[in-house]
Amino acid sequence: MHFHILTLFPDMVLGGLHTSIIGRAVKNQLLSIEAVNIRDFAFNKHQSVDDYPYGGGAGMLMQAEPVYLAFQSVAEKLKKKPRVVYLSPQGQTFSQKMAEEFAREEDLVLLCGHYEGIDERVLEEIVTDYVSIGDYVLTGGELPAMVMVDAISRMVPGVLHNDVSTEFESFQDNLLEYPQYSRPEEWHGKKVPPVLLSGHHANIEKWRREQSILRTWKNRPDLLEKSILTEAEKEFIKK
Ligand code: ADE
Repeated sequence: MHFHILTLFPDMVLGGLHTSIIGRAVKNQLLSIEAVNIRDFAFNKHQSVDDYPYGGGAGMLMQAEPVYLAFQSVAEKLKKKPRVVYLSPQGQTFSQKMAEEFAREEDLVLLCGHYEGIDERVLEEIVTDYVSIGDYVLTGGELPAMVMVDAISRMVPGVLHNDVSTEFESFQDNLLEYPQYSRPEEWHGKKVPPVLLSGHHANIEKWRREQSILRTWKNRPDLLEKSILTEAEKEFIKK
């Protein structure tokens, strides 16, 4: 999968994404992450890309033309019009389901805004998806783009060595993940739950499922309404 990030701060995105698991996947050519500097497409001698909004108001807007030319440089290389995500608090809230869906694309363009936003006309022309990473306002789209690249990349086959590790994780069936423990068996006086040392796989599965349900009930009751529970499990949370 190939990510093309249109940004005024290429170093910020590339620096953050070429480490750890995503960095390894890039090295192994399962992914590529290209940052296109929108400023390279400025058409004035000062290389400025922002201007005052018509009608007045606070702050500056990114102008349509440099953004459009940066997008075109990618589309021309690909010889097709790729899906273009604009990161904005006004978008649809990003979710695991969206990450899985985007992971099926061969190419994805992520457009990062700055200042007070981008001239609406270029958004109308090039953007296919508006995505927010949550109900708070950041200073730019770079961190949200990095969040999306990370979440999408780990759904690309081969990126996680152990593909089964995405199978039971949080949100897969609207339940949060159960608690996990490693050695030593006792730490700061706290013991690993005995069932996990029992070697009894059915009991371990049952315990983990109960813990997932309990955690979701405590921390994210909104998710629990969407999860599919057996009658016995519904009784279990009532207790
Ligand atoms: N840009 C600024 N804030 C944002 C958010 N919450 N999500 C996506 N893009 C943004």
